[in-house]
Amino acid sequence: MQDQPKFFPQRGTDFYADGRSVRPQVENTVARNQLHEDSYFYTGLVNGKEGDGMPYPVTMAVLERGQERYNVYCTPCHSRVGNGEGMIVQRGYAHAGDFHTTRLETAPLGHFFYVIANGYGAMPDYSAQVAPADRWAIAAYIKALQLSQKATQADVPAGTKTESLSSIAEKEGFPESFTKPWVLPPTATYGTPNDQSFVLPTPGSSSTGSTAPVSAHSPAAAGQTVPKQ
Ligand code: HEC
Repeated sequence: MQDQPKFFPQRGTDFYADGRSVRPQVENTVARNQLHEDSYFYTGLVNGKEGDGMPYPVTMAVLERGQERYNVYCTPCHSRVGNGEGMIVQRGYAHAGDFHTTRLETAPLGHFFYVIANGYGAMPDYSAQVAPADRWAIAAYIKALQLSQKATQADVPAGTKTESLSSIAEKEGFPESFTKPWVLPPTATYGTPNDQSFVLPTPGSSSTGSTAPVSAHSPAAAGQTVPKQ
């Protein structure tokens, strides 16, 4: 196989009249499994803008699926509560988005789908890992997660007993700081909000101490400026 004649991807050939080894799609045909008629389901966009609303009904099973997929693919960076301070961030990755800001609380549902499908700034895309139906399930779960962080007595059925997280933490013997916003260690770096360039710290520079983080997702060397994608 090493030596037999073959076409390499995107390399030309004189075998076909148009000089291309890769054959173009036959006009007016659709390959099996590629009939994406419902474009909102596949893109999260309506007329080029992020749409709001689920393309299929949300049930408890959908939210549970979304929670499970979120916990697998998003918590390493965004954490289980969605504050953007997951384990990878705590060990030096760019600060992941906090879902509990007004901007993201009011963002259309299609935004979450779109970010999973296409990535966002320092965040790589998860289109290969997370299928479209699961992207929507995760987006729906993030909405539930956002609600959960600001829920009031009025959000639960009348008569349901609620307890504050701090009183539960106290009862369970957690330290007082447990319910306070998490403090990131100095090795964590910050993302690229407002289209600012993201500068990787250089080894030994004062902001990083002795352990300089190496960006896992970028081939750039430490100290180089990584342009926002
Ligand atoms: C490898 C770490 C990593 C993983 C895993 C990850 N993200 Fe992110 N995410 C980031 C970072 C970093 C940012 C901030 C990017 C920036 O501002 O440049 C971000 C930002 C976001 C934002 C905010 C976009 C905005 O408008 O500010 C959303 C929404 C988001 N991620 C959703 C997800 C979802 C859903 C998943 C799981 C499918 C996920 N992310 C997995 C690192 C990650």
